[in-house]
Amino acid sequence: MDYQRKTIGILTSGGDCPGLNAAIRGVAKPAVELYGMKVIGFSNGYKGFMDGEAIELTSSDLSGILTLGGTILGTSREPFKEIQKNKDKIEKMVNNYKKFGLDCLVVLGGNGTHKTANLLRENGLNVIGLPKTIDNDLFGTDFTFGFHSAVDIATDVIDRIHSTAQSHGRAMIIELMGHKTGWLSLYAGIAGGADIILIPELPYSIDRVIDKLNERHAHGKKFSIIVVAEGAMTKEEVKMSKKEFTEHRMKMPYSSIGFRIAAEIEDKTSFEARVTVPGYQQRGGTPSAYDRVLATKFGIYALELILKNEYGLGVGISNNEVSAKPLEKIAGKLKTVPKDHMLIKSGLALGTCFGQD
Ligand code: F6P
Repeated sequence: MDYQRKTIGILTSGGDCPGLNAAIRGVAKPAVELYGMKVIGFSNGYKGFMDGEAIELTSSDLSGILTLGGTILGTSREPFKEIQKNKDKIEKMVNNYKKFGLDCLVVLGGNGTHKTANLLRENGLNVIGLPKTIDNDLFGTDFTFGFHSAVDIATDVIDRIHSTAQSHGRAMIIELMGHKTGWLSLYAGIAGGADIILIPELPYSIDRVIDKLNERHAHGKKFSIIVVAEGAMTKEEVKMSKKEFTEHRMKMPYSSIGFRIAAEIEDKTSFEARVTVPGYQQRGGTPSAYDRVLATKFGIYALELILKNEYGLGVGISNNEVSAKPLEKIAGKLKTVPKDHMLIKSGLALGTCFGQD
């Protein structure tokens, strides 16, 4: 049959996250074992695709990887802007697509990856995107795989920090990843029962944060848990131009936003403040059961598209249904937390402070 002769290329690009191997397995294992297709794995994202660094994935490569963190293919960040302005790089990828006899290329990645995927589509390649990132900021899908694993990890951090917060009566700041969006901080903050959650979508006032701490103390709560997204900004900062903001942050004598908030708390109150930055732990280790299932569904769905010769699409999940949307509708759009998101409303109803007036 026609589909048996298909050759699929696959790569993982951008920051790694839990679930990448489960998604690779979802596409490649049935492609190889059920349909007798050839699957070529490119190393280290688009870089390996440009350089032609590839191996044919066999059944044994695809065995035992469902629960593995990271990516068996390796990954790299190849900024979209660099690729877009460098015709040579695009040409190399188009040539390797032909050289390896690909019928399609499956790319697993976030925003930058999908922008490049769309560029390759415009250059005539058959491409399918699968949405991964702990940030959950990819347009066109309710959830990306990797996100729920990161939420679980971050929630565990918050849970553990509660004990020291309570024993010492401290203001504990947990700074979470998420890039320019607050999905991870919002979900983990609500799951961990944070008293204050600061996210980029809701620019905060430090005075409101201080008010909340004082209010808790006045009610006999001697400790507080503050979850801050790495991209959080104050009301003043959000009004700055990009240049002004960069200069302003460069002058900041703190390595990141969490440390600035801690210093401000200690300056304006008598409370002791401490900062925890879980960093890359949020992207590491075995995927949660949810992400294993989601990544598997996405992988299988991509293979179904390949069997139907449907390309130029990004796979995602909306209202619990897996589906695909045209890449040009996804690429280049950031999915931010809506100000009226149910979890913000829930937090407000429960007394969570978002640093707002
Ligand atoms: O996109 C995932 C992410 O972990 C972001 O949350 C974070 O801002 C960024 O990647 C860190 O990037 P890098 O891996 O280049 O340090």
